Amino acid sequence: MLKECLKVKKEDTQKKIVELKEKNNIDSNYIIKKGNRYCYIPIKDKQKLTTKQKQVTIKKEVKKQKKQNKNFKEILEKKIPKNILDKINQSYDIVGDIVILGIKDGCEKYYENIGKAIKQVHPQIKSILNKKEHHGVFRTQFLDFVYGEDRRETIVKENNVRIKTDVENVFCSTRLSSERKRISKLVKKNEDVCVFFAGAGPFCLCVGKNTFAKSVYGFELNPIAINYFKENIKLNKLENKVFCVFGDVSLIYKNYKEKFDRIVMPHPTCSEEFIKEALYCLKDKGTIHFYKFVSKEKPFEKAEKILKKYSNIKIENKKIVCSYSPSVVEVVYDLKIRK
Ligand SMILES: C[S@@+](CC[C@H](N)C(=O)[O-])C[C@H]1O[C@@H](n2cnc3c(N)ncnc32)[C@H](O)[C@@H]1O
Repeated sequence: MLKECLKVKKEDTQKKIVELKEKNNIDSNYIIKKGNRYCYIPIKDKQKLTTKQKQVTIKKEVKKQKKQNKNFKEILEKKIPKNILDKINQSYDIVGDIVILGIKDGCEKYYENIGKAIKQVHPQIKSILNKKEHHGVFRTQFLDFVYGEDRRETIVKENNVRIKTDVENVFCSTRLSSERKRISKLVKKNEDVCVFFAGAGPFCLCVGKNTFAKSVYGFELNPIAINYFKENIKLNKLENKVFCVFGDVSLIYKNYKEKFDRIVMPHPTCSEEFIKEALYCLKDKGTIHFYKFVSKEKPFEKAEKILKKYSNIKIENKKIVCSYSPSVVEVVYDLKIRK
């Protein structure tokens, strides 16, 4: 079947899929065609593309999907008005058995329809909520109840661990699950590892369970998060290896001079304010994993400006970890330190 497709370089395919998904502009009735150097992504509406993208759309022979799995917005298309549908983000988070949507104000009348559409796609989901922006130092979020069970507590299963959390009062992003796995693979036998900004413990638990690290410490300021973190250490039987410390990194760090081989800093809005503390706690030749929110257009400019100020820091690796919003992505830098 000849179909309008966006032609993209093979290495850019994932990035372009994310961009098109955000605009609900992939025609999932068709299969993405893979060539030697290019991929062809079937699109729904050429008008929704940028001027640059319009220039690289071509009609291409693509196959129909065998089974047509509609996404929740496609299910809703005939059930709610178009102006309401446009107020609902295409992407959403699944945290345990809870779905967290991004719906703008003014759609409350349609919450039941929206919830039922999500349940149709994910029958195992028990509770559907709607998020406002992350806010404050704890990076927590206000959540509206949409459909199903009105609760906030859930258990996330990932990377051989279980993470109990409260999605309203504790920050916990499942978008970082593969990143946690990547970090675990880098940890060597007998390392002392620390996670600044540990939340309910997802990074610490993953490293504790899946590596031969000697110890894994997590520093966290949110009292609700630290209670979940304590419970999660027991839940995963990691009492002899993972340790949570309640308090502000800018105060606690003094007790850990040159204690760690590796420090993870998953606080993308303010990690840079704690580099001095991380350097103090690291052994010579230690590693820092540094996270930052940056613009999708120029992802590696901003963080490098910050890191260049430190002559003893060498960038060993950098990559985009996940998309945060249509214009913002999260990047990670793996940094080697010389004392
Ligand atoms: C973006 S969240 C990351 C949580 C967790 N590591 C994860 O990946 O799900 C940042 C966390 O840092 C904590 N935090 C913020 N400022 C802090 C500080 N000065 N000292 C310790 N923890 C802090 C917040 O409460 C929040 O749980």
